[in-house]
Amino acid sequence: MRPETRSELAQRLFHYLDTGTTAMAGAMFQNPVAAYTSDERLALEKRILFRDYPLLVAFSSQLARAGDYLTDDDSGTPILVVRTGSGRLNAFANVCRHRGARVVEGCGAGKWALGCPYHGWTYDLDGALIDVPGEAGFADLPREQHGLRRLAVVERYGLVWVRPDPTAAATAIDIDVQLGGLAAELESFGFERYHHFETRTLRPRINWKVAVDTFLEAYHLPALHARSVGPIFVGNLCAADAFGHHHRMIAVRRSFAEVRDRREAERDFLRHTIELYTLFPNTVFIHQADHVEVWRMFPGDTPDSATVRLSLYVPEAPATEKARQHWAANMQLAIDAVDVEDFRLGEGIQRGFRSGAQDHVTYGRNEPALIHFHRSLGRALGLDGAR
Ligand code: FES
Repeated sequence: MRPETRSELAQRLFHYLDTGTTAMAGAMFQNPVAAYTSDERLALEKRILFRDYPLLVAFSSQLARAGDYLTDDDSGTPILVVRTGSGRLNAFANVCRHRGARVVEGCGAGKWALGCPYHGWTYDLDGALIDVPGEAGFADLPREQHGLRRLAVVERYGLVWVRPDPTAAATAIDIDVQLGGLAAELESFGFERYHHFETRTLRPRINWKVAVDTFLEAYHLPALHARSVGPIFVGNLCAADAFGHHHRMIAVRRSFAEVRDRREAERDFLRHTIELYTLFPNTVFIHQADHVEVWRMFPGDTPDSATVRLSLYVPEAPATEKARQHWAANMQLAIDAVDVEDFRLGEGIQRGFRSGAQDHVTYGRNEPALIHFHRSLGRALGLDGAR
């Protein structure tokens, strides 16, 4: 983030602190409960949001060297991303062109070819079919038409996005347009220098949007998190800014007031705030003083289930056991607050949705990020979304 931006945000946040106010949306927003429970809505979200939109799959540092690869199945399309010898990233549908087996499992390093485990068809890192065991059985096969199906991929600002739709690979992802003005800010963070510490998977029994919602307001911090992270933060106070369908929300720690009297160069705002970005449609990025949490939310098989991936990125690979334990404790703190407190409460919300007790939920003006997210979803899905 540019220093001028951080300084302007600080002035806004001081004003909210002084006046006991917060960023406000123009109006409340009422969302039908069916947005969280409808099978038709879920199918539409999977078809549009998790197929047509570029999804963040990794930091560049996870695929730093030639032969590094990873797979990602959460969108519904089995995705394979690999770094070639020339340094380019390729993304493919992880589906063998013989009879459809998964070609690669997991993630790792040192791949120089992609061999299918079923019958041994082998592809090079550009996806070309280069070996067919028992070739006589396939003498008439046009090999050039049986390479791995490409997916559109873009690597920028230390981040990697893939569009899961194999039929849209020819249309390049213009990520700067997609980012709606957020590109320069993402670039300023230098994410390419971050080290991937760990990714954990959670499978709460909630709609994937309930999982996103939990990050999009500071209103709940004093109540729900009273015995964990709540006392660290000022509740119901945030700065909020939209960037197209993406969003930035800044929440402040109680220590924030201390920096007011310091000289500008010594304020070190990041130690006293968290910068939370919603990267539409399914990623929440939390930038803190010395690390980045990336939460990626995906729909499950039903509207009542989700897969959540939490990845922790740190400034450098831990060189000592003490450093490793420090980051492991950070990871556990995040899990304890979100999985144990937010998602457990969310499971009650999801059951409440199913009870028929109400036909809509209400987002207050003091929850502007939440309102922006659901309005953006409505636009992307071609729905009004508001009552
Ligand atoms: S399905 Fe891959 S080689 Fe047969």
